[in-house]
Amino acid sequence: MILTAIFISMVLGSVQPATTKKENPIPQTDYYNSTLGYEKIFSISLKGRYDRRGITSLLSNCLGLNIEMVDAYNPLEDSERIQALNSTHPKNINNMSLGTLGCFVSHRSLWKRIVDNNISTALILEDDADFHIDIKKLNAQAMMDIKKYGNPDFDMLFLGSCVEIMSKAIPIHPGSAVRHSVRPYCLHGYVVTIKGAKKLLEQISVFDNPIDVNIGRAISDKKLLSYTLNPTIIDQGMYAGNSNINTDKYYFKGATKKIGFSIDKCLNF
Ligand SMILES: *[C@@H]1O[C@H](CO)[C@@H](O)[C@H](O)[C@H]1NC(C)=O
Ligand SMILES: *[C@@H]1O[C@H](CO)[C@@H](O)[C@H](O)[C@H]1NC(C)=O
Ligand SMILES: *[C@@H]1O[C@H](CO)[C@@H](O)[C@H](O)[C@H]1NC(C)=O
Ligand SMILES: *[C@@H]1O[C@H](CO)[C@@H](O)[C@H](O)[C@H]1NC(C)=O
Repeated sequence: MILTAIFISMVLGSVQPATTKKENPIPQTDYYNSTLGYEKIFSISLKGRYDRRGITSLLSNCLGLNIEMVDAYNPLEDSERIQALNSTHPKNINNMSLGTLGCFVSHRSLWKRIVDNNISTALILEDDADFHIDIKKLNAQAMMDIKKYGNPDFDMLFLGSCVEIMSKAIPIHPGSAVRHSVRPYCLHGYVVTIKGAKKLLEQISVFDNPIDVNIGRAISDKKLLSYTLNPTIIDQGMYAGNSNINTDKYYFKGATKKIGFSIDKCLNF
């Protein structure tokens, strides 16, 4: 028995790829805790959106997640800021919505908070996030794949994205859901490490495009080490609504119920 065990460990030891030497900062058992093994989960939401906050709260209870709501920056409450940005980049701000500005400042402020508070890893959500019902297992699998075949010292990991060029995003190992990011868009569900947050603050400082466009560009320019999951495990939910408060499930035309996701499974309508 003992000899067999030694033999097996020798065989396993000899086939371990060199990459396993990299230290993963997160203990494996913690992938299943209420913050998915990350130090924090934040969800960015405008103060008044108690419809989306309510749904996020129902989903987090259902999935056993601990999500801290963060008040989104609301440009309508900060005319000085708008004017300051407008005078620096008049051409660009004119045809970008105030929501686009709010989104830019909200994500950036959170990166700053992560750096200022020495938060090693955080999952950042937007308040329309819907989660795969098996998010804990699938996230753990992704983290183990990264530990084994990728670089645990990454900057960003997109658990959800849109418009990513999946045909060009190569899996880090055959069969793995983790891919090398090409140019992911949308920020409804991404992980950032403190190292990534520092780089983002340096790279993404000028409001000249929607924030995810600038991040996608920085990633495709190899300024950040980023992974993208395919299939995604966080998507934009069907309760997206518009800027008005509305929880009617049929309100957002064109939305589809994501089979196997938590709005479908937990809210049970
Ligand atoms: C989950 O695990 C991570 C990594 O060890 C830790 O930083 C975080 O505080 C844990 N979450 C909770 C809610 O204990
Ligand atoms: C930005 O500046 C232009 C003039 O350069 C002005 O017409 C426009 O109303 C300003 N936009 C905002 C949002 O303040
Ligand atoms: C902004 O407006 C200019 C001129 O109308 C247009 O060429 C450009 O595509 C617009 N940009 C965005 C991001 O919509
Ligand atoms: C930041 O956190 C790390 C652990 O994640 C710790 O080793 C380090 O001492 C902390 N630094 C500060 C300045 O608190």
